Amino acid sequence: MSYAIIGFGKIGHALAEAFARNGIEVAVATTRDPASFAADAAAIGSTIIPKTLAEAVKADVIFLAVRFESHPEVAKALHSWKGKTIIDAMNTQAPLEELDGLPSSTFVAKAFTGARLVKGFNHLVAAVLGQDPAVHGGRRVVFLASDDDGAAADVAALAEKLGFAPVQLGGLSEGGWLVHARGRSWGHLIFKDLVKFD
Ligand SMILES: NC(=O)c1ccc[n+]([C@@H]2O[C@H](COP(=O)([O-])OP(=O)(O)OC[C@H]3O[C@@H](n4cnc5c(N)ncnc54)[C@H](OP(=O)(O)O)[C@@H]3O)[C@@H](O)[C@H]2O)c1
Repeated sequence: MSYAIIGFGKIGHALAEAFARNGIEVAVATTRDPASFAADAAAIGSTIIPKTLAEAVKADVIFLAVRFESHPEVAKALHSWKGKTIIDAMNTQAPLEELDGLPSSTFVAKAFTGARLVKGFNHLVAAVLGQDPAVHGGRRVVFLASDDDGAAADVAALAEKLGFAPVQLGGLSEGGWLVHARGRSWGHLIFKDLVKFD
C-alpha cells in the first residue's frame, strides 16, 4: 500500500509527523517543485518523500490536506480516481447552499470520480494532530465517516498503524455531520481532543 499527502502546510506537516514517527513512507506534494520543500520534508523524517502532484497521486491512499477551495484543482490531476482511497482532512465554513446542501465530503466526492472517500483526521487543530497520539496511557481519537464500509475499515487500520484510536461515525450523511462545519457553526465533535483507553 502506498500513501500520499496532498498539501504540505499545517495539516500536511502534522500528518507527515505521524508517518515519520512510525517509519512509514509517504509522498508529500504541493503546487511547487518538490525540491523547494525537500529540506522541510527531510527535517520531519527520512520516510517523507517530496514529489510532484502528478507523481504523488499514483499512491493508493491519498490525504487531501489542501484548503477546501483548492480541492477541485487537485481533482484535475487524474481523469479517474477509481481504485484510490481519498481521506478528506479538509474543513470548510462555506454555507450549505454552496455545497448543494450536502455534507462537505459528499460534495468533495463528486470531484474525485470513482474514489472511495473517507472523511477523517480533520477534527483536531494541526498542532494537536501532529503530536504523538500516545497520551495519558491511551491513544488520541480520530473520527472516520464514509459511505464505503470497506474504505472506512482500511483507513481505520491505517489510523491504528499511525498510533491513533479510530472511531467510526457511520455514513457521511449520518456521522459525517458531526465533524462538519455548517456555515459558522462547527459539528459537535470538531476540536474535541479525546483519548481512548483500551
Ligand atoms: N490548520 C489546522 O489546524 C486544520 C485543522 C483541521 C483541518 N484543517 C484543514 O486542512 C486543510 C489544510 O489546512 P492547512 O491549515 O494545512 O492549510 P495551509 O497551511 O494553507 O496548507 C495548504 C497546503 O496546500 C498546498 N496547495 C494549495 N493548492 C494546492 C493544489 N492545487 N495542489 C496541491 N497542493 C496545494 C499549499 O502549498 P502551495 O500553495 O505552496 O502549493 C500548502 O502546502 C484545510 O482544508 C483545513 O480546513 C486544518
